[in-house]
Amino acid sequence: MKKIELAENVYWVGAVDWVTRDFHGYSINGTTYNAYLIIDEKITLIDTVKKPYTSELLHRIRNIIDPAKIDYLVVNHVEMDHSGALPEIIEAIKPEKVFCSKMGHKALLQHFHRPDWPYHVVTPGEEVSLGKRTLSFLETRMLHWPDSMFTYLKEDEILFTSDAFGEHLATSERFDDEVNQDVLMHEATKYYANILTLYSPLVKKLLAKVQEMQLPIKMLAPDHGVVWRSNPSKIIEAYSRWCVNQGNGRALVIYDTMWESTKMMAKAIAEGLHEQGIEYKMLDLQVNHRSDVMTDVLEASAVILGSSTLNNGMLPRMADFLMYMRGLRPTNKIGACFGSYGWSGEAVKMMNETLKEMNIILCHEGLKMQYVPEHAQLGTCVELGRTVGKTLKAFLAGEKIESVI
Ligand code: FEO
Repeated sequence: MKKIELAENVYWVGAVDWVTRDFHGYSINGTTYNAYLIIDEKITLIDTVKKPYTSELLHRIRNIIDPAKIDYLVVNHVEMDHSGALPEIIEAIKPEKVFCSKMGHKALLQHFHRPDWPYHVVTPGEEVSLGKRTLSFLETRMLHWPDSMFTYLKEDEILFTSDAFGEHLATSERFDDEVNQDVLMHEATKYYANILTLYSPLVKKLLAKVQEMQLPIKMLAPDHGVVWRSNPSKIIEAYSRWCVNQGNGRALVIYDTMWESTKMMAKAIAEGLHEQGIEYKMLDLQVNHRSDVMTDVLEASAVILGSSTLNNGMLPRMADFLMYMRGLRPTNKIGACFGSYGWSGEAVKMMNETLKEMNIILCHEGLKMQYVPEHAQLGTCVELGRTVGKTLKAFLAGEKIESVI
């Protein structure tokens, strides 16, 4: 088994999951659960893995050292994909100390019900000597759980960042410079969009805090995906854009349709956007997974939603998507809604209300059309697209835009 070394005596000992396709509603193509081993006078394991991967973790540790020699265990995050292996690992290594945040201590007790484990609750900024090296801890509460923290290995300038700066990406290689850059950045974008968007204000504060601390960072070592050893600034710069909801100027037409009328409206609206010189993307929810749509939403500047009315409500796929997007709370966007109906037509009003609740700026009161739209009605849809396009250009130019409803 090849030893994977980040720096002298600092190893990756995690597990690669080639199987998982669904992560709480977020579609993934596998992932990794990263754990790190530091060999020093106090041998230290940072994080563990999801329970079914416990033996892979132990094999990787045994490849370097007898697990029983590990003295310290650091728990940066209690979510089960990083802590599921803990009971078996603690039994195997019998650590002298288990380092965790205050909230991590509480969460560990509530997950594993083991008050007898040798917890050491760290205070933010606390330093622990391992011998030649020093660890310090940075509280990152609600990024993305209350217990989350980062651990910094001072002498090697490696920041172990828990879920932050990760990707759900299963690969044979472990470092940023060894994988396809387009795939890497796509997966990093998808990960931020589907996990961290809601916590963007906290990401912004964290980046400012790290900058203020003037922490030298040679590598970012997250708990998922690759270690950023060659270009950590690439992902830091991306987070700096994402956390302030910086849009790319693009409009998304996201819709679901019963008998193609809403789809006809969607295509006509897109024509209006195109006339205004706005780049757009059509996302039919019948063929696009909610988490892929959310990835586009992260950087989009306008979100136009369409749904036919079914049983006095919106179509189930739109309800699913809206519930998902509302939870993640993307901001700094223009919006509008449309849809066809047979006799009641509540979908547009419902979508409007949700976008309004999310503080997306509605630049149109919404457009609904009965049964099948004819040519002149499609012209009204084109006009809606033009309105969104004109408003978006003003918005991107920095004009203050008020919601029309
Ligand atoms: Fe990868 Fe929040 O666990």
